[in-house]
Amino acid sequence: MSKAIKKIAVLTSGGDSPGMNAAIRSVVRTCAYHNIECVGVYRGYEGLIEGDFKQMDARSVRGIINKGGTILKSARSKEFRTKEGRQKAFEKLAQNDIEGLVVVGGDGSFTGAMIFNEEFGFPVMGIPGTIDNDIVGTSHTLGFDTALNTVVDAIDKIRDTASSHNRLFFIEVMGRDVGHIALNVGIAGGAEEILIPEEDLGLDRLVESLNKSRSSGKTSSIVIVAEGDKIGKNIFELKDYVDENMENYDVRVSVLGHMQRGGSPSCFDRVLASRMGVKAVESMLEGKTNFMVGLMNGNMELTPLEMAIKGKTKINLELLRVSDIMSI
Ligand code: F6P
Repeated sequence: MSKAIKKIAVLTSGGDSPGMNAAIRSVVRTCAYHNIECVGVYRGYEGLIEGDFKQMDARSVRGIINKGGTILKSARSKEFRTKEGRQKAFEKLAQNDIEGLVVVGGDGSFTGAMIFNEEFGFPVMGIPGTIDNDIVGTSHTLGFDTALNTVVDAIDKIRDTASSHNRLFFIEVMGRDVGHIALNVGIAGGAEEILIPEEDLGLDRLVESLNKSRSSGKTSSIVIVAEGDKIGKNIFELKDYVDENMENYDVRVSVLGHMQRGGSPSCFDRVLASRMGVKAVESMLEGKTNFMVGLMNGNMELTPLEMAIKGKTKINLELLRVSDIMSI
């Protein structure tokens, strides 16, 4: 393995996700294993521009594999979107003899990394960290599995109160403009209907489905609504619609919000983060740059950042059918 690179920096950027700490730990320890220096960058690209760096060794990442959030903190930087901002960041990296950068984040963070690489030829490697699972080149982004478990736990609790009061609950889940979280938690939480951005099922289908549920003897219902759903109404308007157009429904709305991004990462996310960190650092040491590491068919694979950013993840429509059958 060639070891041209002697010092690597790692940062977390964009919305945090459970497993980011485990990824930082993995990057730091893989560097230590290969006798490479490692530097943590605080507050994503903001900290890169300001030179907010901290030397990290194997012991400095003890006790974080089980922690949610990111010890390096995260930010969405406006200044890094400008050429001047990126120039400052490059100068800070050069002044500190840093020769490679690992970015843990989502597509926005990867876009920044890719432009930075194009402008300065600086070696970059991406680790996909977002609960949305919206990145091409990995079956799972870091934090997706934990978020699913967090949401299912919340749905189970809401179901208890829904069934006690014979209520219909609309539950909004995150996912920006993709429905991966909604689709999976909808099945796992036994939802009667799942509304996702990828499929505009229309209000008629919703009404029909609720009527069907009721006539089949169900006394309470859960409808999962992805935050980016395209049905044309937000979740509160959906409630109003049912209140106005359907009789005898006691409707409540629950927007789960940012609790979905917190909490201790699942076993799956900890293992994934550990594997991704090793692959990211070792790929850089092999001279690879401008790639994202990802899980494909059980293996760690590299995907060019450009493909990871520009591609659109596909929803598994089979899951919608399974949900339909399960909610009979
Ligand atoms: O990308 C992760 C995510 O949690 C999305 O699901 C959500 O739309 C967005 O970030 C929320 O962003 P913010 O934390 O800036 O409100």
